[in-house]
Amino acid sequence: MNANEIRQKFLDFQVKHGHKVIPPAPLVLENDPTTLFTGSGMQPLLPYLLGQPHPEGTRLTDSQPSMRLQDIEDVGDPRHTTVFEMLGNWSLGDYFKKEQIENYFEFLTKEIGLDPERIYVTCFIGNEKYGIPKDTEAAAIWQEVFAKAGVEAKIAEIGSAKVGDKRGIKPGERIFFYDDKENWWSRGGGIETTPLGDPCGPDSEVFYDFGEDKQDVEKYGQAHPASDGARFMEIGNQVFMQYKRNEDGTFSELEHKNVDFGGGLERLAAAAIGSFDVFKISLMAPIIAKLEEISHKSYDTNTDEMRIIADHLRGAYLLAAQGLQPSNKAQGYALRRLVRRAVLRALDLGIGQEFLAQIIPVIAENYTELSDDILPNRAQVLDVLTKEEVAFRKTINKGVKELQKMAQADTTIDGQELFKLQDTYGFPLELSVEEVYKMGLNLSKNYQDEFEAALNEQRERSKTASKGMFKGGLSDTSDQTVKYHTACHLLLAALQQEIDPSIEQKGSNLTPERLRFDFNIDHKLTPEELAKVEARVNQWIEADLPVIFAEYDKDYAFDALHAHGSFRDRYPDRVTVYTIGEGDTPENIQNPVSIEICGGPHVTHTDELGKFKITKEESSSAGVRRIKAILE
Ligand code: ALA
Repeated sequence: MNANEIRQKFLDFQVKHGHKVIPPAPLVLENDPTTLFTGSGMQPLLPYLLGQPHPEGTRLTDSQPSMRLQDIEDVGDPRHTTVFEMLGNWSLGDYFKKEQIENYFEFLTKEIGLDPERIYVTCFIGNEKYGIPKDTEAAAIWQEVFAKAGVEAKIAEIGSAKVGDKRGIKPGERIFFYDDKENWWSRGGGIETTPLGDPCGPDSEVFYDFGEDKQDVEKYGQAHPASDGARFMEIGNQVFMQYKRNEDGTFSELEHKNVDFGGGLERLAAAAIGSFDVFKISLMAPIIAKLEEISHKSYDTNTDEMRIIADHLRGAYLLAAQGLQPSNKAQGYALRRLVRRAVLRALDLGIGQEFLAQIIPVIAENYTELSDDILPNRAQVLDVLTKEEVAFRKTINKGVKELQKMAQADTTIDGQELFKLQDTYGFPLELSVEEVYKMGLNLSKNYQDEFEAALNEQRERSKTASKGMFKGGLSDTSDQTVKYHTACHLLLAALQQEIDPSIEQKGSNLTPERLRFDFNIDHKLTPEELAKVEARVNQWIEADLPVIFAEYDKDYAFDALHAHGSFRDRYPDRVTVYTIGEGDTPENIQNPVSIEICGGPHVTHTDELGKFKITKEESSSAGVRRIKAILE
């Protein structure tokens, strides 16, 4: 049975038990300040778990794409993924422990056909401090369920995973009590970290046993359901969501006792085919096969790299398909990070050419059943992700070349050189450190301090440059004037975008009270044109775009970066380029709003500017108009 069939079977099974199928929520959350992404099926249902009636009734089910970036460092092992589908069912004050446990056991053993002898479960041991009792009720239900299936199920009081690692499992044991680290569920984890105001409760987890030989005892200790190691894998979590955490930190019982069940589809699919490696399931195998084909390497000998690439690109696909763009902020940065980490691992596999265009269509096959409502941008995914790949590969190539050049002069690379790689080529420090070792070079002993010092020096330099280059423009460098300076860049960009791309700056004058900006144009701007320009500038301010700079050779800045600068002949050979937009160097910026040769200084983020308002438009000289504007 493959993953798609399991998903369908689960939903059908829940419908048979009176549940309504609800559409999954987007992965990218817009109005939840507490997390970046949907990380579980219950997240979009919070208000209903706290008592608000749901329009579809008291029994709900869905399959929710979920992302847990906190697991990113664990990806590479057989089971961790940042992105997964969570099969879910909920009782909103309807059925409770008995029906949930019986039904899930039936689903696993009858619908999926798992051997009941391979199923192990855990329950909550209770918490004295908060007066939460031990969940003997759930344990008793499990005993009955196992007895009916003819499976021996003794109870073990383990307490904590640490104790379990030493103690292991005694013959016949199948139901295990653990503390809140394992068997309490809230969005914040254990009992102490339950967010105030959130619903929560004891849970009962279900595990699949892949066999004693799978546990690496030396590395992970004795096997038991909460141990690390490959013997046991969690294939479902039934949260008995019957408490709410009060604002004073205590817990009180909810009027309606809910069930919040979540099970990872990928893991269930792995159990169904008896593979402790989730990357062998039907949703993953074609991606891995494609990677083998592209790299001419085998999964068996390049397991971790291929797992990371497959996982990260699945995540990147989902995020981009929802319309997210790679950027340097919050969610956009997560997307960028996923793509970059995948590209780096691809380089480890020797995939020197762009490869996303080959992999993404294979990944897209996984999601053909998800509705366009939550993946509205799927047609653009290839474009968005390959652009990011191209930009990142360029950055890497330039950095590596430069590093090779440096190595010719001296095989010990110092912090100053590493800084140059980052500053000029956008080659991240960690990456160049890795490359240095790969190339068999050495790092100077104090490279970190040297790097820091170079960074500080550059900050100083840019201040000095700003004095030299913009004497006529920046009359002072008070905070307010600096804001007006950045506003000038946005204004020029808005004029070019809204009115005419050939508009150039003909002069400017800034004080702490206002900006004055002259530009070439053949007509007086209409009130509509001015309104459009003003609105565009304010939109960019609200988007809170980063303002960043780096130094380049003048020709490179003009010809390769297409930086704007009105005085090409008068600039020195090395110039500073300021960019407004999402990106970490002017070279790999995505959809830049503005790229200008400029000495600075500028604000670091556009939302520091406040509200931009044009106060006057007038003639300056023949063919040149003047705008005056203020920041409120
Ligand atoms: N909300 C529970 C979980 O994420 C089901 O494990």
